Amino acid sequence: NGEVIDTKNLRVKLVLLGDSGVGKSCIVLRFVRGQFDPTSKVTVGASFLSQTIALQDSTTVKFEIWDTAGQERYAALAPLYYRGAAVAVVVYDITSPESFAKAQYWVKELQKHGSPEIVMALVGNKADLHEKREVQFQDGIDHAEKNGMFFIETSAKTADNINQLFEEIAKRLP
Ligand code: GTP
Ligand code: MG
Repeated sequence: NGEVIDTKNLRVKLVLLGDSGVGKSCIVLRFVRGQFDPTSKVTVGASFLSQTIALQDSTTVKFEIWDTAGQERYAALAPLYYRGAAVAVVVYDITSPESFAKAQYWVKELQKHGSPEIVMALVGNKADLHEKREVQFQDGIDHAEKNGMFFIETSAKTADNINQLFEEIAKRLP
């Protein structure tokens, strides 16, 4: 009936960083395929996947996701993936203080060498393992606030907050 619907299509390069085993690949697999793999293999180098989401206002956002390898031997490759990224998602495991320390290292690295306009999210994954929790929710919030980041706890296993993570990122795009 002559009504014009104005659509906007965004393409966004997103990089996931964080210690080996925190669940980066599982978060991506959950988001892109709706699946969880309890026997997920360590990532070698990096892997690439994309997923498009639609927002309320008829905007679509295509996330081009670089899922990096967290093992120390691949650390030198990280700049290849975060350089030019519009979004960085830094992941730790709420049962592992070491992984939280590593997340703080990645935040600093991104502040030094990432794009100045980069949107950063801090993610505490494995929230389903609350009995083994060693990093408090408040510690995550505090670190994120101090660094101007968005914070969320997720579970790739139960799917808790996985879609919300990407929706909240989409809302914060410049
Ligand atoms: P690298 O590729 O080495 O950097 O590790 P990664 O961060 O990609 O970890 P990956 O996604 O492969 O997950 C590591 C292990 O944690 C696997 O055994 C997963 O099944 C498990 N895992 C991932 N996410 C969750 C979660 O939300 N809850 C629980 N309970 N286990 C999880
Ligand atoms: Mg991986």
